[in-house]
Amino acid sequence: MRKILAVVLALVMVFGLVACGSGSSGSTGGAKTYKVGVAIYQYNDNFMTLYRQEIENYFKTLETDSVKYEITMVDSKNDMAEQTNQVDTFITQKMDVIILNLVQTSSAEVLIDKIVAADIPLVLINREPLGETDESYPGIINNPKVCYVGADARQSGTYQGEIVRDLPNHGDMNGNGTIDYVMIEGDPENPDAQYRTEYSIKALTDAGLEVNCLADQIGNWDQAKGNEIADAALAQFGDQIDVIFCNNDGMALGAAAAIEKAGRKVGEDILLLGVDALDECVEKVNNGTMTGTVLNDHVGQSHTAVDVAVKLLNGEAIDNYYWVDYVKVTKQ
Ligand code: BGC
Repeated sequence: MRKILAVVLALVMVFGLVACGSGSSGSTGGAKTYKVGVAIYQYNDNFMTLYRQEIENYFKTLETDSVKYEITMVDSKNDMAEQTNQVDTFITQKMDVIILNLVQTSSAEVLIDKIVAADIPLVLINREPLGETDESYPGIINNPKVCYVGADARQSGTYQGEIVRDLPNHGDMNGNGTIDYVMIEGDPENPDAQYRTEYSIKALTDAGLEVNCLADQIGNWDQAKGNEIADAALAQFGDQIDVIFCNNDGMALGAAAAIEKAGRKVGEDILLLGVDALDECVEKVNNGTMTGTVLNDHVGQSHTAVDVAVKLLNGEAIDNYYWVDYVKVTKQ
């Protein structure tokens, strides 16, 4: 009996060792490690911070004993030259897949071409390169290893406008017959900024409402800039302002502070709209210091981006475009 036990133990040890050995050897049926390069346009961005953290978290949840993901994530610091160098390095490092949040969508072609030439699959996120007709981008369509994962910014703009349209006074807070608004825009090169600016107002004019633009300024997605712009507009236009539209919540947070400083009251004499549904802003919507925001689903988008990256790693067929819906957020 003892002998049998000893033999069993010895066998267990041998197999155990073999299993351990193969686990670290990679090519002999052990864990396969994929190299994933991720370049984010700028770490210092409220929304992209949530997004990039979720990319890392979600990749971890997909790891198994046999598949690992080695993520190299870099901050492109809002500098296109820096990002081009980072992509060159990813190519030299022979990444198995690249996830790219472009600094400038106008540089899409150069980067896509390089990555495709190196035969590395590519998932573009958050900043959609547009074709000449504002639609599908030639470098993406029909390319079996390139795709874009994002949300249709027209929808977010429309939702902002609809939140205002659906109020009892349709956003005419001072009762002068027009919706007098201030627009605080993100980076003008970004279709999210262009579409949100256009479609928020379109939702109002489509409903037959009169609008009047008091000021339209570029805040580059930045909270401090949003604060400066709202501060100056409130000083210049005072009670004339019915609505402040911000292309994102970061800038809306800045505008909210300016509104408070000016002694104005959201919901009583002014309205404030953002996009993203950052936790701080959802709280403000619920306590009445913001009128509404629109959920920009960073969880849905990051998971889709990672899932499609994994498909590409597995050599599976992919679509060229993946869309994640926005959701209106008003007081609960
Ligand atoms: C978000 C912004 C963010 C931008 C970065 C947009 O979709 O709404 O908050 O700054 O993406 O590209």
